[in-house]
Amino acid sequence: MTPLQTLSGALEVDTDCGRDLKAFARDVHSGLFSNPKRLSCRYFYDAEGSLLFERICRLPEYYPTEAEKMALEEHSSEIADLYPAPPTVVELGSGSSYKTRVLLDSILSRHGSARYVPIDISPSILRQTAQDLTARYSGLRVTPLIGEYEEGLGRLEKEPGTGRLFLWLGSSIGNLDRDEASRFLLRLRAGLTPSDRLLVGIDLRKDPDVIAAAYNDSLGVTSRFNLNILSRINRELRGDFDTNTFRHQAIYEEAEGRVRMYLVSMREQSVPIVDLGVEIPFRAGEAIHTEDSYKYSPAEIHALAANADLVLSRHWLDSGGRFSLNLFSRR
Ligand code: AVI
Repeated sequence: MTPLQTLSGALEVDTDCGRDLKAFARDVHSGLFSNPKRLSCRYFYDAEGSLLFERICRLPEYYPTEAEKMALEEHSSEIADLYPAPPTVVELGSGSSYKTRVLLDSILSRHGSARYVPIDISPSILRQTAQDLTARYSGLRVTPLIGEYEEGLGRLEKEPGTGRLFLWLGSSIGNLDRDEASRFLLRLRAGLTPSDRLLVGIDLRKDPDVIAAAYNDSLGVTSRFNLNILSRINRELRGDFDTNTFRHQAIYEEAEGRVRMYLVSMREQSVPIVDLGVEIPFRAGEAIHTEDSYKYSPAEIHALAANADLVLSRHWLDSGGRFSLNLFSRR
């Protein structure tokens, strides 16, 4: 296994691109020869996709970012007060850490110092974030980790730590199905000491039109974000997808409480991917499933806690009741 890279000092990054490319090639091959076709949403986030996601987060229709930020603004001092000493804040999938700043503001004004460990797979965003945060907060020690959640958590488990705050914001939990979400929380629980806490942002079930609009924005940014996965195959595996012949589709399935995202081929076609040595046949109207985004009711969040053997010690909503912040601890 490739060692996880840390960004420190000159913030140099050296990820093992060869390994990543091999896994990407293998997953693209098996996903596009599956029936129905699928591609994992984890491959949305190359440099281009991460920038597009940042743009999604600023769209008026994409309410989760703003709603979560509002909930953080309202409750971050209460969270900071839970810690008797400067905490270490570990963030899974930190991205630009845009909302985390709200929490860091409260923690630093309450404690004067803190350590922040952002974990993310995008070196470019992580590098920028580490530089910005170090310049903004003199009392903050930033030690970023580039890698998958699992690698980051494994690394942290080797360091003894207590009184930590683990953050998993942005409703990233929604991109797992409900069983996977419970299993992942159970996995996180294993690394928690009794004085650690886990704060998870979870999007809520609500008016289906509001949810559907968040994934079908009028500027078409979500469409570009979805289609970028095909452009990424073109760039990295010498594919020949014509992205004008695929359309973005996002449907909210209310009974399941999930948005399903697809790329639909608008015509019958066969697409070569040179580095895989294959041609992928598409029927007119055939879809590639690219993402699920699950929404939760309060009862489903309580069930999630019970399944993961965690105590849900706080459950806060933003003032519009759209999004929840959930503070978990060990039983
Ligand atoms: C990262 N994740 C929580 C986003 C979501 O809402 O499921 C990804 C996204 N897909 C389309 N828009 C945003």
